[in-house]
Amino acid sequence: MYKDYSRRVVEGLSIAVLVLDQQLRLLFMNPSAETLFELSFRKAHQLALPDLIVGAKSFIAGLRQCLENGHPYIERELQLNLALDRTVTVDCTAAPLLERDPPIGLLLELRQVDWRLRISREENIMAQHHTTRALVRNLAHEIKNPLGGLRGAAQLLERELPDPALREYTRIIIGEADRLRNLVDRMLGPNQLPIHSDVSIHEIMERVCGLVEAEAPPGIRIERDYDPSIPPLWGDADRLIQAMLNVVRNAVQALGQWGVITLRSRVQRQYTIGAKRHKLVARLDIVDDGPGIPPDQQEQIFYPMISGRPDGTGLGLSIAQSIVNQHGGLIECTSRPGETVFTLLLPLGKPA
Ligand SMILES: Nc1ncnc2c1ncn2[C@@H]1O[C@H](COP(=O)(O)OP(=O)(O)O)[C@@H](O)[C@H]1O
Ligand SMILES: [Mg+2]
Repeated sequence: MYKDYSRRVVEGLSIAVLVLDQQLRLLFMNPSAETLFELSFRKAHQLALPDLIVGAKSFIAGLRQCLENGHPYIERELQLNLALDRTVTVDCTAAPLLERDPPIGLLLELRQVDWRLRISREENIMAQHHTTRALVRNLAHEIKNPLGGLRGAAQLLERELPDPALREYTRIIIGEADRLRNLVDRMLGPNQLPIHSDVSIHEIMERVCGLVEAEAPPGIRIERDYDPSIPPLWGDADRLIQAMLNVVRNAVQALGQWGVITLRSRVQRQYTIGAKRHKLVARLDIVDDGPGIPPDQQEQIFYPMISGRPDGTGLGLSIAQSIVNQHGGLIECTSRPGETVFTLLLPLGKPA
C-alpha cells in the first residue's frame, strides 16, 4: 500500500525525477522527466544521460563528483541543450541514492524554470522601458523650455541687426533650434490622447504592407501568414500602424536590396505578459532573413537615441515599444544572422 502511494506521488510530481546508475545510465524517469526530454522511458531505458544532452561538461562532471564524494550537487538556472535543437533552463539537484559507499546511484531532480525567467525578463524590460521613458520625458521638457527663449531672442536680434549679412547667423540659431525642437517632440511621442476602437489586426498589417511595398526596393518580398480567426483588438489603429511600420521599416533597411519579410499573426491563449495573465493575446511576428542584430547591440536597441545606422535616430523601436506598452503589450526580439524576429504581443479584448 505504502509503496503504491510513493510511486504515484513520484509519477504525479511536476518536477522531473530521474534515477541514474554509476555509469549515469537511466534506471528511472517519471512522466515529467519524459516530458522534459521529450522521450519515453521505454526508449530511454539504459541510455546514458550524457547521450541525451549536448555539451554540458560541467553538469556531467558535477554528477560524477556527486557519485564519487557523496555530496549533493546543486545548480541553478542551468541551460541544457537537448535533442532537436531544444534548450531548456532548469534548476538541478542531484543526491546520492542510498548512502552506501560507493552509492548505488543518483537521484536527479530537474525543475524547468524557463517560464519563470521569461516573466522576470519581461518585467525587467517593462520596468526598464518605463524608467527610460520617464527620463526622456523630463529631459525633453528641460530642453524645450530654454529652446523657446533662445529662438525668440534670436528673432528679436535679427530685427535689430544693422548689417543684413549678419542675419545668416541668427538664421542658423533659429534653424538649429527648430531642428532640436523637432527631435525633442519626436522623442516625446504623440501628445494627443489615444483614440480606441475595435481594430482589425489584419487591416493594420495590410496597411503596413501597402506602405512598405510602395517604398521598398523591388528585390524585397513580403509574405503573409495570417491566422484569420484573430478577434478584433481594442486599440488606437493609427498608433498601432505606426508601431508596426517602425519595425517593418527597420527590417527593410536591414535587408538592403534583397530579402524576404514574413508577417505572421497568431492567437495565444492564457498568456502572461509581465505579471498579468490574459485570456487571449495576439502575437504578431515580423521576420526577416537579413544579417541580424549583433549580440552586443540586442539589449540596447529599444533605448531611445540608440541606432546601429549612421543616419538613424534610434527612435523607431522606442516609439513602437511605447505604443505597444500603451496597449498593455510588449515587443520582444530574437536575432541571429539570417533570422531576426520582432514579436508584438497585444492583449485582445476590452480592458475591464
Ligand atoms: N530587423 C532588423 N535587422 C537588423 N537590425 C535591426 C533590425 N531592426 C532594428 N535593428 C537595429 O536596431 C537599431 C535601432 O532601430 P530604431 O530604434 O528603429 O532606430 P533607427 O532605425 O533610427 O536606427 C537599428 O539602427 C538597427 O541597427
Ligand atoms: Mg528605425
